[in-house]
Amino acid sequence: MAALAARLRNAGCVFAEDEARLLALAAGSAGELEALVQRRSSGVPLEHVLGWADFCGLRIGVDAGVFVPRRRTEFLVRQAAVLLRSSRPLVPPTGKAPVVVDLCCGSGAVGAAIAVLAGPVELHAADVDPAAVGCARRNVLPLGGAVHEGDLYHPLPARLRGRVEVLAVNAPYVPSEGIKTMPQEARLHEPRLSLDGGADGLDVQRRVAAAAPQWLAPGGHLLIETSQHQGVRTAELFRQNGLTARVASSEELDATVVIGGF
Ligand SMILES: C[S@@+](CC[C@H](N)C(=O)[O-])C[C@H]1O[C@@H](n2cnc3c(N)ncnc32)[C@H](O)[C@@H]1O
Repeated sequence: MAALAARLRNAGCVFAEDEARLLALAAGSAGELEALVQRRSSGVPLEHVLGWADFCGLRIGVDAGVFVPRRRTEFLVRQAAVLLRSSRPLVPPTGKAPVVVDLCCGSGAVGAAIAVLAGPVELHAADVDPAAVGCARRNVLPLGGAVHEGDLYHPLPARLRGRVEVLAVNAPYVPSEGIKTMPQEARLHEPRLSLDGGADGLDVQRRVAAAAPQWLAPGGHLLIETSQHQGVRTAELFRQNGLTARVASSEELDATVVIGGF
């Protein structure tokens, strides 16, 4: 195991011991282990080599070519779970589960984790990328959720308009110019569509905020992950569309989420 870790460390893996252990557990034979180590050493993200990511304590399937859910996004999930728990009446009037939408869902990690942490919910996830949708289906369908393919809100069932309690969004927010300075793992192995937020990084968030009022239930919440330095501008997008906005952050996870509603 020490030799394996040394190879991975030489290839630039910071958490070489942990990765060596995970790859050894995943391999069914010495030949398979060698193939996994070679893929990882060539710069393929660990999660793509393993086929899964640890997210909020869950094992989320992640296919090659699909955005790898980040630790910092666990903060978005926790904030959504707090809101769902605090808005839930002690005695549910109709027994109807609150509607949760995970927009720009990638692997579906955000929606799946919210459903597990704060369920029961009626979960819908959506993404424009067919590869992401296929991956999200494997993570979300077993939890009773639905996954839709298309641009932002377009593929969601119309019956959800005005009924969404939690709209949780981790859309691309890296300014186009910033992509070239991202780590190679992201630049080479995650689709540009999953990273590039346009000139100021806010192109997709701008469209999400503009249409959110049509989909939120009275008292519903929009949560958008953003970066610390973009937080004020993301909050401004909420206010421009008649929504309240507050910026929540976690130093521990280096995470920023803007939260608002009517
Ligand atoms: C930063 S990744 C986040 C994925 C997932 N929410 C997560 O946190 O792991 C952004 C995702 O947004 C999707 N996306 C980009 N533009 C979109 C659009 N116009 N409509 C729907 N999804 C979009 C990408 O395909 C990608 O899966």
